[in-house]
Amino acid sequence: MKKFVSLLLALALVLSVFAVATAEAPKKIGISMPTQSLERWNRDGSYLDEQFKAAGFETILTYSDNDAGRQVNDIQNMLADEVDLLIIAAIDGEALNTVMDEAANAGIPVISYDRLILNDAVSYYVSFDNYTVGKLQGQYVETALDLANAGDKTYVIEFTAGDPADNNAGYFFNGAYDVLKGYIDNGTVKVTSGQTAFQEVATAQWNTDTALNRAANILASYYADGTVLDAWVCSNDSTALGVAQAIESDYAGSNTIIVTGQDGDIANLANIVDGKQTMTVYKNVMNEAVVTLELAKAMLAGEVNGEELVKTFGVDCAYDTESYETSEGTKCPSFLLVPSVITKDNLNDLVATGLYVMGDDGYLKAAE
Ligand code: GAL
Repeated sequence: MKKFVSLLLALALVLSVFAVATAEAPKKIGISMPTQSLERWNRDGSYLDEQFKAAGFETILTYSDNDAGRQVNDIQNMLADEVDLLIIAAIDGEALNTVMDEAANAGIPVISYDRLILNDAVSYYVSFDNYTVGKLQGQYVETALDLANAGDKTYVIEFTAGDPADNNAGYFFNGAYDVLKGYIDNGTVKVTSGQTAFQEVATAQWNTDTALNRAANILASYYADGTVLDAWVCSNDSTALGVAQAIESDYAGSNTIIVTGQDGDIANLANIVDGKQTMTVYKNVMNEAVVTLELAKAMLAGEVNGEELVKTFGVDCAYDTESYETSEGTKCPSFLLVPSVITKDNLNDLVATGLYVMGDDGYLKAAE
């Protein structure tokens, strides 16, 4: 009898351990980031990973070295590992069709993170207002050169845009170009290289050296004779880094050229302190991670009410069901955070986020 009771007790123990294990099995989140070669994605990857883990999820985090084929593989492995939800920042918005269909067939929801994936299997899009990012860059140049009151004065500008495979790149470029187009059309602004089409000014993979080489060529071909350049509109910080380097070594003139950027990368913030870059459009990616976490929780609970959900984030974010399409006619419900302008004059705004600290040397560093 004693033996029987202890057998029963042992069985009960095994069953209860099993019950706890099943009840508490954490949901698994696949986080697929494009590359570690650009600063921001390292921040996104670690913020997302930390946030989800702290909320009790299990995570798989991958970086695909800017190789679209590898990203497909990484996502397929996540599906094989039975993730419950995917968060993907696409290297190429059009290269994930097959794997997105595989996710849809397996019933796995997908959040397109920062960059839109152009496949209808995407459930939601979390990003910043990308057109506004470009607009802020264009408006910065417009105000700094006071283009509206130029009268007979003329100014010279060049453009550097992002990766054509990244759906964001066109939004950034158009946002900036649309502000400046009127001034180009009426002759107030000249683009000496004549390169004003997105494809002409684009930078594959947002690569710093590619941007540097193109800028160096333009400076050698069109500005070596002393032609003055007033501004170089760069879509982001990795390209601005290359352009600033080319200006430093190859620009014949002595004026300070306005250089725009985006992201608030540490090297670019140093360039802003040193006067080699003028502004960056800052996007708080910690907030982007927070929004993604809250959205994922609502999706897994099967209750996403976009309008209501944005009110719970505690950060400035719009719910937008019109602006982004995954394919012709299919709108993707989007959560769009708000970007801001950072210059030498308001670097302390970054310190106030808690994500940066001001070093004794006057340069910003990432907070520990
Ligand atoms: C964009 C992103 C930017 C920038 C760029 C290069 O998609 O929105 O913040 O980092 O990629 O990585």
